[in-house]
Amino acid sequence: MELENKEVQARPERKKKIFSGVQPSGTITLGNYIGAIRNWVKLQDDYDCAFAMMDMHTITVRQTPAELRRRTLELMALYIACGIDPKKSILFIQSHNSAHAELAWILNCYTYMGELQRMTQFKDKSARHADNINAGLFTYPVLMAADILLYQADAVPVGKDQMQHIEICRDVAGRFNALYGNVFTIPEGLLVKSGAKIASLQEPTKKMSKSDSNPKGYISMMDDFGVIAKKIKSAVTDSEGVIEYRPDDDAKAGVNNLLSIMAVMTDSTPERVAADFAGQGYGALKSAVAEAVVEGIRPIRAEYDKIIKDKAYLKDIYTTGAERACGIANRTLKKVYKKVGFVTD
Ligand code: TRP
Repeated sequence: MELENKEVQARPERKKKIFSGVQPSGTITLGNYIGAIRNWVKLQDDYDCAFAMMDMHTITVRQTPAELRRRTLELMALYIACGIDPKKSILFIQSHNSAHAELAWILNCYTYMGELQRMTQFKDKSARHADNINAGLFTYPVLMAADILLYQADAVPVGKDQMQHIEICRDVAGRFNALYGNVFTIPEGLLVKSGAKIASLQEPTKKMSKSDSNPKGYISMMDDFGVIAKKIKSAVTDSEGVIEYRPDDDAKAGVNNLLSIMAVMTDSTPERVAADFAGQGYGALKSAVAEAVVEGIRPIRAEYDKIIKDKAYLKDIYTTGAERACGIANRTLKKVYKKVGFVTD
């Protein structure tokens, strides 16, 4: 069909922009896959997406250099294996785009100490790493704000624990815009649907986390299939022995979690899964969940194993990704430099 209105034709509606990232700081869990990466895959068609490996954030906590390097590439390979398509989305490594550090410095000058002192993640991490409460850990949210604002992102898909970071990003961007005009798009946090939040298998009232000191609490996407099945089979449940989905009942947290995992892996709902298993024992449910998870992860792992071996392919992806990311980011940075009074061309 020919469009008559030339104006409309010349300016097709702009796709909304999405930015998100993950720190290559540890193993990726089933919780990360279900709660984050899997949703990003679906966003790729409707939005212009950029996803990054946040290696600069990772060094706010001491790392072993060789391990950080290895994990960054593994994370990227896993993203691709999960369905992030480097042809559709920009996939890059944060430290490959110096604009992040440059904008972060400027935003530091527009962020208040008091705002940063209130951040729960800062308080938590300072408590956990009392011997290394460095300035980077303190200004972590400013770097994160720079990540997002450089791409003029409309939305940032994150977990609930990151919402405070989105808030501070919005505040700083709003403050900057109030002083200099509309420089930054004010981003919205895009919370993943509830029900897709996966809990620890051992302490099901807490979220599944790679920093859990008990590895039985989480499933790594890199775990051996036998280990995955074993972890699910030893998941904590309750002594009631009834398969029912009661999301508001903490006593049922273990069963709720198994039902949620099953629902995600089989494209169902926890209620429907509960109905399917009504009258059966927890053993049967656990076996079914174990199988569904293993079968869900199997093709991802096969793809991952291929990609991680192909270093030239990975390099090609992150080089192209960095070029595209720098192009977008530098446009924003240039505007900012001009606004704050730096001499530009
Ligand atoms: N802080 C995020 C986390 O730990 C990672 C992150 C860094 C991020 N910069 C970002 C997420 C920008 C979204 C957008 O999960």
